[in-house]
Amino acid sequence: MIKITNITKQFPTVTALENISFTINNQEFFGLLGPNGAGKTTLMNLLVGYFDPDKGEIEIAGERVTRDNLHTRKNIGLVPQSLALYEDISAEENLKVFGSFYHIDKKELAVRIKEKLESVQLYDRRKDKVKAFSGGMKRRLNMIASLLHDPPLILCDEPTVGIDPQSRNAIFDYLTMLNQQGKTIVYTTHYMEEAERLCNRIAIIDHGKIIAEGSLDKLLEQLHYDDTISIIKNPSTIANMHIIKSFGDLIDVNEHFELKPKQGFLLSEFYSMSEKHNIGYKFIETKRPSLESLFLHLTGRRLRD
Ligand SMILES: Nc1ncnc2c1ncn2[C@@H]1O[C@H](COP(=O)(O)OP(=O)(O)OP(=O)(O)O)[C@@H](O)[C@H]1O
Ligand SMILES: [Mg+2]
Repeated sequence: MIKITNITKQFPTVTALENISFTINNQEFFGLLGPNGAGKTTLMNLLVGYFDPDKGEIEIAGERVTRDNLHTRKNIGLVPQSLALYEDISAEENLKVFGSFYHIDKKELAVRIKEKLESVQLYDRRKDKVKAFSGGMKRRLNMIASLLHDPPLILCDEPTVGIDPQSRNAIFDYLTMLNQQGKTIVYTTHYMEEAERLCNRIAIIDHGKIIAEGSLDKLLEQLHYDDTISIIKNPSTIANMHIIKSFGDLIDVNEHFELKPKQGFLLSEFYSMSEKHNIGYKFIETKRPSLESLFLHLTGRRLRD
């Protein structure tokens, strides 16, 4: 388990993290969702122990993380936000170099390299120089290069920014598989669809503070969204607006009206009313609340501009 307690990290001109506390359970796929500059990378760096916090502490499996504690670091694979690869050598040679950092037995390393290249669909390209790779291929290689020591805790810092769908899916599938094998994953992103799709539990971070945290269902419970009925604008609907309004709030959106049903709304009553008065309705849309709408609700801003 990861226990983060009252962490504050200050840089000369900005407080990157301000008194944050939360826990991450073993084998969770934990999402850290937040906009640019929220403090995600800073938190990742603190989890690995690249630098120490100004205040507070982090414990991983009961052991305090500090810059000097190399023991906790061995159990972590940090997939960094900025690519850390050697461009002028092949994918396979890169992995050999990274593997040598971890003092893995040569034979075992060769097995792992092959297996990992295959799992992110790069085995056929193993002899190619990294500089010939697409952005998505580099991202995939960057990921497995950080995981050759088979760590139980994997930190992924925005591994899918600006990449093609095939690479993105390969990364999703690989991480999902690792999580199913029992690895704990902490995944930062500013794509709410990714957090929704991958993570069991999510913390939303903004300006260095955790502003919401919980399972996706729990987070979205805070929002109350109703079905929306789109009502065709025609002389008959316009003449009967007062009746339609008795079913809920009616919003004029140029080409149609949008009806937000009120508490106690009965679809059967709506159907008979619309038949009686010849009210055309186009469709009934259930607007599923999303993390994007939650972020907007909590901060008044969009997650991405
Ligand atoms: N080494 C540093 N020196 C000074 N300021 C820093 C340093 N690292 C981060 N910051 C600042 O701390 C804040 C948080 O940055 P951080 O990189 O953690 O955000 P982030 O959530 O990872 O953003 P992004 O989505 O853009 O990667 C930002 O204001 C950033 O400018
Ligand atoms: Mg970052």
